[in-house]
Amino acid sequence: AIQRTFSIIKPDATKRNLTGAINAKIEAAGLRIIAQKRIRMTQAQAETFYGVHKDRPFFGELVEFMISEPVVVQVLEGENAIAKYRDVMGATNPEQADEGTIRKEFALSVGENSVHGSDAPETAAVEIAYFFSGLELVG
Ligand code: CMP
Repeated sequence: AIQRTFSIIKPDATKRNLTGAINAKIEAAGLRIIAQKRIRMTQAQAETFYGVHKDRPFFGELVEFMISEPVVVQVLEGENAIAKYRDVMGATNPEQADEGTIRKEFALSVGENSVHGSDAPETAAVEIAYFFSGLELVG
């Protein structure tokens, strides 16, 4: 089925001018970028967005990283978009990511891993609504 997923191009990637290179991989996989904006995430936004990880040892580091440089938030649409984008991203840890994936090519470490993608339809809906209004999604 046609799905929507939420994506973030993270600070390590925007800093290295990789937004276009990452978008090229997204589009080559058949996903459509139906919304996109470059923002500076606030600390409150980052803490809420990553709230499920608040008890993890890396939480503070993760929030600091996400507010350290601009990010690009996106909504991607396509057949099976959630799983498809996870395939395009590759494993969270770039050392375990498959050849040709975004993280294999661009990520620096498990923390500075260039992109985020939703893990399930319910989280995709929540994450999209957190950063975009319905009017901003142009399918
Ligand atoms: P993301 O998909 O954005 O969701 C949670 C993030 O936590 C994950 O990507 C990683 O970038 C980050 N993360 C996971 N494990 C670690 C870790 N051991 N150290 C730092 N960051 C981590």
